[in-house]
Amino acid sequence: MRAALLIVLGLAIGIIGTVFAMRAINERNPLPHAVMVTMSLHRHELQQAIKGQHCDATANVDQLQHMRMIAGDIPTAFPDAPQPFLDLAGHLRTALQTAAQSAPADCPALAAALKPVDQVCSECHHQYR
Ligand code: HEC
Repeated sequence: MRAALLIVLGLAIGIIGTVFAMRAINERNPLPHAVMVTMSLHRHELQQAIKGQHCDATANVDQLQHMRMIAGDIPTAFPDAPQPFLDLAGHLRTALQTAAQSAPADCPALAAALKPVDQVCSECHHQYR
């Protein structure tokens, strides 16, 4: 009798465990969130630099190049995205490439270089977020 109870208990625990595991697997893809949070981390650091009037040329380019690489991950992070979305991701990459190539050496130059970048961020968020 006791053995039978233990078997039933074991089966029940097994079933509950399977349900939980399947839920975890089906959970929302965490990558979109991760990519955007990392992107905004670099954008935030540039904002802090501008705010503190502490814009170092090398650091500026470094941050912008990081952002450009992260922008390259957007299509992977949003696998079912429609073409216009992917086009916007491409625009973001181009805008960041241009910004990095302009090598902003001071805060006003950095702020100006970021304007077209921010525009693409908001354009995509406006439509898809
Ligand atoms: C091609 C479209 C696109 C572009 C370009 C884009 N984003 Fe996003 N972003 C999204 C989408 C879609 C979401 C919602 C993601 C989600 O909730 O899964 C989002 C969400 C975010 C979030 C909230 C993250 C979260 O889940 O809490 C931040 C912060 C963010 N984006 C920052 C940026 C910044 C900064 C830029 C520009 C440098 C940018 N994004 C450019 C599509 C884009």
